[in-house]
Amino acid sequence: MEIEEIKLEELDPEKFATEKTEEIRSIVRDGLAINALSGGVDSSVVTLLGHRALGDRFKTYFIDNGLMREGEPEHIVSLFKDIGVSVELVHAEDTFFGALRGRTDPEEKREAITQAFYRDVFAELVRETDAKYLLQGTNYTDVEETVAGIKRQHNILEQLGIDPEKMYGYRVIEPLIQLRKSAVRKVAQSLGLPEEIHKRPPFPGPALAARIIGEVTPDRVKIVRKATRIVEEALSRTGAFQYLAILHEDRVTGVREGKRDYGFQIEVRCWESKDAKVGSPTRLPYEVLDPLAERLTREVSGVVSVTYNITPKPPSTIEAV
Ligand code: XMP
Repeated sequence: MEIEEIKLEELDPEKFATEKTEEIRSIVRDGLAINALSGGVDSSVVTLLGHRALGDRFKTYFIDNGLMREGEPEHIVSLFKDIGVSVELVHAEDTFFGALRGRTDPEEKREAITQAFYRDVFAELVRETDAKYLLQGTNYTDVEETVAGIKRQHNILEQLGIDPEKMYGYRVIEPLIQLRKSAVRKVAQSLGLPEEIHKRPPFPGPALAARIIGEVTPDRVKIVRKATRIVEEALSRTGAFQYLAILHEDRVTGVREGKRDYGFQIEVRCWESKDAKVGSPTRLPYEVLDPLAERLTREVSGVVSVTYNITPKPPSTIEAV
């Protein structure tokens, strides 16, 4: 990997932001650029850098791929409105569900999401706006995981031999590619982003699709979305690095009101980690796990089994897909 990491200890966040703002300006010159904001710390930092660098010549979109958490698209759009950045919500749910239909292989699902983003949604936005550049928050770990062949991160192109200009008709600028997540958080804080953003637990680019084993359908997303809300409510106070709910493909026999119920299985994961490269499961007490299982089976229709992952990364990964 030729990219040189800027380590957290070496990072001067103000200087970094100034240099990157100038770099964006010098690449885009008098042209136009766009970006997609998900509300994660990486895309939030890129959003601010782009606006600083280009002002009105930079446009930010929130792509609703149908795979986001409950209320997330509206919440992020309104949070950025409050800090003076206007974000347009793009409804692309059908495009993503269409691309995912019938797919069960994890890497094929990731590839389908990548194509839906770059080939379908962004290419259309670029055509509409006449932008020549897409700014995105690819970080050092994303590149590393893809190059190592662990997972194809949704935002990796060049390192997989993809030339976005030839393939999709626009160039990609990646101002955060030398930073790991903890360093991006430092830049976010120095840019004045609210704590909700600079401390936000990571959330994967493929969104809830990274937490559905087997086919991703609107109905299955609904199940994992509800479970995610419950898990986040129950575990946010743990201070863990990341916590999530996974929907399994297999169903299992359960019993409800004295009758057989062939239902869904939810796996809960809660991680201690610094940069997601390695991780270990949080040693959650049963006082936390018991009511969580009770809520998941009571509030998420059809769930009859809840498990807690006790495997570190490696050999597990943080997300299931
Ligand atoms: P894994 O599952 O590979 O996840 O152990 C490592 C970290 O990266 C997040 N993740 C992603 N982030 N695009 C992203 O921007 C992706 O395609 C992606 N896949 C996983 C994951 O949530 C964890 O923090």
